[in-house]
This record gives sequence, structure tokens and C-alpha cells, in this order.
Amino acid sequence: MLEKRVKRQVIAREHTFFIPTSLGLEKICAKQVRSLGLEASASGEGGVTFQGKLTDMYKACLHLSLANRVLMRIHEFKAAHFAALENAVEGIPWELYLPLSCPINFRVTARKSKLYHSQAIAERVEKAILQHLEKYGERVEGAEEPAPQEIFVRAVSDRFTLSIDACGELLHKRGFKESEGRAPIRETLAAAILEFAGYDGTLPLMDPMCGSGAFSTEAALIAANIPPGWNRDFAFFSWPAFKKQQWLYLRSQAEKQFKNITQPLVFASDIDQNACSLLLETLESQGLDRIVKVSNEDILRLTPPKQVSNPGLIVVNPPYGLRLGTVPQARELFASLCNRLADQFQGWTLAALVPHKDWTPLLPFSAQPFQKILHHGGLKIPLLIGKITNKK
Ligand SMILES: C[S@@+](CC[C@H](N)C(=O)[O-])C[C@H]1O[C@@H](n2cnc3c(N)ncnc32)[C@H](O)[C@@H]1O
Repeated sequence: MLEKRVKRQVIAREHTFFIPTSLGLEKICAKQVRSLGLEASASGEGGVTFQGKLTDMYKACLHLSLANRVLMRIHEFKAAHFAALENAVEGIPWELYLPLSCPINFRVTARKSKLYHSQAIAERVEKAILQHLEKYGERVEGAEEPAPQEIFVRAVSDRFTLSIDACGELLHKRGFKESEGRAPIRETLAAAILEFAGYDGTLPLMDPMCGSGAFSTEAALIAANIPPGWNRDFAFFSWPAFKKQQWLYLRSQAEKQFKNITQPLVFASDIDQNACSLLLETLESQGLDRIVKVSNEDILRLTPPKQVSNPGLIVVNPPYGLRLGTVPQARELFASLCNRLADQFQGWTLAALVPHKDWTPLLPFSAQPFQKILHHGGLKIPLLIGKITNKK
């Protein structure tokens, strides 16, 4: 019986999972995976590997804030020509992994391999999967309308690795209403910046150029201890091996840890009224407006919030002057921001993305700041973190 095979071969077994991250985030993502009680190693190739059962994968999808996706390895084999590829793929028991009649998408990368044409590889893999499923016939009934599934095919030196994506939409999608700001930063990168700055949700956080508000929404989730995947669906909901009861149990365990925050701890502001209104709408729809206070304000008038007595963290991703305005205009704005911070925010920590090298001396730091290069929108941008002092 198929259900028994799914239980024995997929649910009861341990699998290898690969978690792709943005370059440079492998180590902190591995740390996050370990904090879930899983043994993880940063692969150094833009990802983290761990071994575990499906329930461990559920945990990873629900709780990881820095991961791009979670892939489950299905099979590895050598193939140097199409017949060998088709043969190997047709031999995989796809009925254990794929829901009944779902759309399947393919992502192929090939390096140093005799088979290198990604489109041709995808076509052959698809043909072999469909042939296998056709022969197989019997299937486990899953969700009525199964989510599209994505198969990742990776070939290196003729060695193929086939994986299935557990997530569907990329994990930076937190299930919030989209409110695209100008040059928005991804939630995964915002979460990484907060992690590098040591933000734990207890101190006040200011996001004075909030745009679409990724820093503020991530900070609110951390402060309230709400998992980043709480509000979204995942592709694995449609897998034959998905056990809803186990997923609901995991969610109920997470819900017990939610913190009821009644006072604002996060202060988001922007000069753009429209961005502020959209962010407020998103926060209201998620019940996060208790935690985040949004105001339409110019950084040149920024002061520490009256509600807070302890200095906290300020996070900024300033305009770079590349897509909008000019670099000299953006530099002038950054210089004004740094002056304002030096005047008003001594003792606070500043985490800033600094897109141009000659802007670094403008920062209101007396000691050498922490520095980490991050990859954002095709650019390599240094993140600098330090304590604000009045240098004058
Ligand atoms: C590069 S975007 C960053 C947005 C968001 N923090 C992110 O990382 O996705 C810069 C933001 O700075 C805002 N901004 C520009 N000049 C400002 C000023 N004088 N005061 C406050 N915000 C300003 C823009 O409206 C824009 O939303």
C-alpha cells in the first residue's frame, strides 16, 4: 500500500536538507538551525545542510528567518548522457514525494558536466518523472488543489542531485500584504542585519528610513516571539507525507511562546507619507501595530521616542543615489543623518548599510565598528555596526 510506503520511506526516515541562504549568511543561518536543536553545518556554498525527519523540516520552515528556502534531497546519481539521466530519474519513487496531478517546475544548474543544457535537462527529467508516475498509477490523495511543486536539479562533474523544495514561495515572503517601498530590502536580509546587531526584541528599535518596513516587521516578530513562517503556507502542505496534526502541534507549541506586548517597542518613520500608510495597514492586518509605532517624519527632526528610557538600536538602509537622485545628494542626506544621530542618540547602537566607501568616515562612531559585507540587489554593501558618540 502506498500510504505504508510513504510512512516507512519518507515519514519515518531521516533525510538530508539543504537550506540556501544569501552569500555571507551561511554561518548565522547554521547557528539558527542549531538553536532549533538540529545538527547543522554551513556548506560555504551559500547554504546550510542538516539531517532530520520531516517534522524537523517543518520546524525549519516555520522558525528560520534567514533562510531562502528548505530543499529535501531525493536522490543522487551519476549521469553523463541523457539515457542515463532518464533511467535514473524514472527509477525514483516519485509517488512518495509528489501530490496527485500537481504542476511541477524545474530549476536546473549544471557545472563541469557533459550534460549542461539546463532546458534540455529539465525536459528529460520532467518526461522521466511523468513516465514513472503514469506507470505507477495509484496515488495518495492530498490537498484538493495541490500546490505547484519545484524540483531542483544540480549537476556537478556529472553527479546529479535532485531535491524538492518544501517552501513554495521564497521564505522572505512572510505572508504579509505586499507593500513595496523604494528599493525594499528582503525580510531575510533585514533579519540577518538585526541578528548581526544582536537585537533580541527587548530594547527599543528605531527604523527611521523604514520604506516598506522590513526592519520594523522583523523586529516586531522577534519582540513578540512570533515565528517568521507563522502567517504563510508551504508547498509541503500538499506532499503525500504531510501530517497536518504534527504541523498543528508544532504551531501550538510556538504559540505558547508568544509574548503579549502592549507598548510600542519599535519606532518606524519615513519622509514618504504613502510608505508610512502602507506599512501601518500591513501592521494592522497582522495585529503588530501594538508593537510598532509608525510616523511620517524627516530624519533631520528625529529624536529618541518619549516612551523609552534605555538607548536601543537604530537600523538604516539609506538611499544610495543609484536608482533615485544622485550620489552627492544621497551622501549629503547620509551626512545629515549621522550629524543628527551624533547630536541626539549618544549611547544608542547604529546598524547602517553604507553603500559608498567614502561615507564611512561620516559615521558617528569613535571606536572601530563591526563590519560585514552583505549581498543586496546585486550589490556588495558593507553593514557597519557601532555605538553612537558625539565626535564633535
Ligand atoms: C533605500 S530606502 C530603504 C527602505 C527600507 N528601510 C528598506 O531597507 O527596504 C530609503 C528610504 O529612506 C526614505 N527617506 C529618504 N529621505 C528621507 C528623510 N529625509 N527622512 C526620512 N526618510 C527618508 C525614503 O522614503 C525611503 O523609504
